[in-house]
Amino acid sequence: MSKQTAENAIPHGGKLINRILDENGRKEALNKAKNLKKKELTVREVSDLEMIAIGAFSPLEGFMTGKDYDQVVRHMHLSNGLPWTIPVTLSATEEETASFKNEKEIALLNEKNEVLAILQIEDIFPQQKELEAAKVYRTDSKEHPGVNQVFQMGEMLLGGKISLVNRPQHENFQAYRMDPAETRAAFVQKGWNRVVGFQTRNPIHRAHEYIQKCALEMVDGLLVHPLVGATKGDDIPADVRMRCYEVLLSGYYPKDRSMLSVFPANMRYAGPREAIFHALVRKNYGCTHFIVGRDHAGVGNYYGTFDAHHIFSEFKPSELGITPLFFDNTFFCKKCQSMASVKTCPHDTTEQVSLSGTKVREMLKNGILPPPEFSRPEVASILIDAMKS
Ligand code: ADX
Ligand code: MG
Repeated sequence: MSKQTAENAIPHGGKLINRILDENGRKEALNKAKNLKKKELTVREVSDLEMIAIGAFSPLEGFMTGKDYDQVVRHMHLSNGLPWTIPVTLSATEEETASFKNEKEIALLNEKNEVLAILQIEDIFPQQKELEAAKVYRTDSKEHPGVNQVFQMGEMLLGGKISLVNRPQHENFQAYRMDPAETRAAFVQKGWNRVVGFQTRNPIHRAHEYIQKCALEMVDGLLVHPLVGATKGDDIPADVRMRCYEVLLSGYYPKDRSMLSVFPANMRYAGPREAIFHALVRKNYGCTHFIVGRDHAGVGNYYGTFDAHHIFSEFKPSELGITPLFFDNTFFCKKCQSMASVKTCPHDTTEQVSLSGTKVREMLKNGILPPPEFSRPEVASILIDAMKS
């Protein structure tokens, strides 16, 4: 019997961080904010702020200071020694940082100028853009969406703990918004000890469904955890994807062993580095296992198909504290008459039902259902309708 239980899928660093102020703290902070200097956040920074505040990014309690940033970029660890692969930073221009130089605290605002949080400024330091691009994204190409963002940011970074005053408001997916404490509680309530998390920014096709169900054969429960924060322009919008997930789960997934909830992070497209990050964050949500398939969090041809598997061997399993489940490229094989991968199928590639993303998009645009071996018709119909409008 495994001793690992949802109750003791220990958050990264030992405890779930909560940086949301209580009602009294909130009133005080709102008052104080009137006299503080202010800084408007970008969409990604708002998302990061929320992820930090709710504990999804435990052990982070704020935006990274220079020491953590440097260690994370160069060595994939925080300065306290814990694995962490993605910079979580707050960017500012040189003019802004000059005006914040003598401030202990500033107020962080959304685009409507509403106060979201207070930042205790602990550090002001330059962003090492070339180094970050090379180390985190493994390319200096500004065509890479993650690298492009790095170079669009201000020259400086502000580090320090945050205290959340007002939660960023979301109009969509209310029924599916669960904080790490809530998914953890749900797993306990369902009696799931071993829970596998699935990250996606795409509609779920048969290959995705297959790897989820292979994983589910080995654990108690499946958390389908689609990313609904910002993605690049040509990714399918989250509201369309959510309709696909709903119809798929209700028609083909066991109710008592699967759960759909949203992951409000932004995509970075950092491939292997982001696979580690995705796994650690899902540990914070209470998962004991995490699926990593082909080209996880990849974009274009920047990463090798299985680089996101290989990077896990650069860490000790004990320091990650979540078990990755690796999957090879999966497909439907006409000879096997089932879903398979090169690990399990001996037949020629000509037997595989495999379609390129471009080909699938073209079919859907023309109102043509891809073969049911590629995509469930219910899912494809939603995509066809979405493309019409
Ligand atoms: S992403 O966030 O990792 O970019 P995506 O939706 O493309 O999301 O993939 C979700 C997960 O399924 C990832 O772990 C990815 O590696 C895996 N995956 C996608 N397609 C396949 C496939 N054909 N075979 C095996 N794994 C796949
Ligand atoms: Mg992909």
